Amino acid sequence: MTEQDFIPEVYHSKIENGKVTWESPSNIALVKYWGKKKNQIPENPSISFTLNECKTITTLNYTLKENKTDFEFDVFLDGKKEDAFKPKIQTFFERIESYVPFLRDYYFKIETSNTFPHSSGIASSASGMSALALCLMSIEKELNPELSDVFFNQKASFLARLGSGSASRSIEGDLIVWGKTDSITGSTDLFGIKYPYKVHENFKEYQDTILLVDKGEKQVSSTVGHNLMHNHPFAKNRFDQAHENLETLKTILESGDLNQFIALIESEALTLHAMMMTSMPYFILMKPNTLEIINKIWSFRKDTGLHISFTLDAGANVHVLYPKKEAKVILEFIKNELVAYCQNEQYICDRIGFDAKQL
Ligand code: DP6
Repeated sequence: MTEQDFIPEVYHSKIENGKVTWESPSNIALVKYWGKKKNQIPENPSISFTLNECKTITTLNYTLKENKTDFEFDVFLDGKKEDAFKPKIQTFFERIESYVPFLRDYYFKIETSNTFPHSSGIASSASGMSALALCLMSIEKELNPELSDVFFNQKASFLARLGSGSASRSIEGDLIVWGKTDSITGSTDLFGIKYPYKVHENFKEYQDTILLVDKGEKQVSSTVGHNLMHNHPFAKNRFDQAHENLETLKTILESGDLNQFIALIESEALTLHAMMMTSMPYFILMKPNTLEIINKIWSFRKDTGLHISFTLDAGANVHVLYPKKEAKVILEFIKNELVAYCQNEQYICDRIGFDAKQL
């Protein structure tokens, strides 16, 4: 498929107004997307677990308007008008306009809320942009009822990607691949696809306890972060490594080898941070407590032989990943030993989840 396939033909039906609501999940990458080209095309492929509890719920009210020159919309977070979100959505609308040409025809009231605390340091861009993209696809479906379900999801992911790369992986569950790579049939830079191969029982209901080490604003925005990969001395090796890691992960996901899984995902997390530490300018996004937690995880794993591991996104919070069958003991350990390192002892118990839902 190409971008052209997402440009619709002239719509035959017309709608005056309406309202649609979608609930969309967040996701956590195992092989990380870090570095992008023009038009939100990733420099390397990535794969993520869709989450079950961390979600955005967005209602889109739309009313046909007279003046079709500008985009007109207002954004509300938890019922409160949030003008600070407008520039990001304005940019999103500009990027997707040719694919959803009805954008200037309507006034949109966008009402959104998250199931996780707003200033938790958990990025809401993946769940937020995917929820909005899905709402827009529902309008397109009204205008063109013939759209197939497969196309609906592909285009929702395609639009979400233009809002935020990782949002392309937040339309479906439970393992999503985004970015073209030879080892995964059907993978594409344009949108996320469901991981198409066998996954061992060990990874079913995999747990993710998110430790909120630092709930502040992101120190480095993802746009700035991705740009740091341009002219980065290790960029080429890193991009090649992501392809290799995805190929290796394919074998691991089939065999269920948890030790190999842990080695691969922890290395991915630390590589992401290593890229930030070795760019110019350079950043350390981990906090002392991030390292305390990592060290505690490593000693507990050594002492017990249990399969506790971690991954990170572009910040100080730690995602503690572990299999369902070891959940009881590991959660006890987290509560007794790790939660003390969180800001206000805050953490979120999540696990691998499934598709976004229309409400
Ligand atoms: C470190 O998707 O937030 O979480 O495309 O600029 O919106 P933009 O970036 P974004 O980047 C996420 C980076 C990451 C790794 C990942 O989720 O794969």
